[in-house]
Amino acid sequence: MNAIEQLTRQHRHCDTSLVQAERAVRQGDWLAANQAFQRFEHDMLAHFALEEEQLFPAFETATGMSMGPTVVMRNEHAEMRETFLDLRDALQAESGADYLGHSETLLILMQQHNMKEENILYPMCAQHVADVDALVSRASAA
Ligand SMILES: [Fe+2]
Repeated sequence: MNAIEQLTRQHRHCDTSLVQAERAVRQGDWLAANQAFQRFEHDMLAHFALEEEQLFPAFETATGMSMGPTVVMRNEHAEMRETFLDLRDALQAESGADYLGHSETLLILMQQHNMKEENILYPMCAQHVADVDALVSRASAA
């Protein structure tokens, strides 16, 4: 798998866990909801770390664009992290309405964000970052 495929797969994988958590909340199965959310949050944070600590710096170094698309992506990651906290609170309170509201917001944020990465930023990374496939493989295995 090349870098774009691997990163896109990570996005899909996270989407699936979020949908599973939402389904469990709708069914009132808080244990399953907590488990799915934990998996989701863990995988999202690992994916963000890969991008923020390895992929984005490599892109910024290769292109000299340190005030460009990676700044926007980092800001959106921060926005999504805020939503994770809201979801956590809703789970803790076992509030289905709160959870589903925040989950809906996050899903929209993720769709827009992932589309930008997959259609614009990742192809730019593939074009400019030398050994990007190896970088992503190594970082994903860590
Ligand atoms: Fe991403």
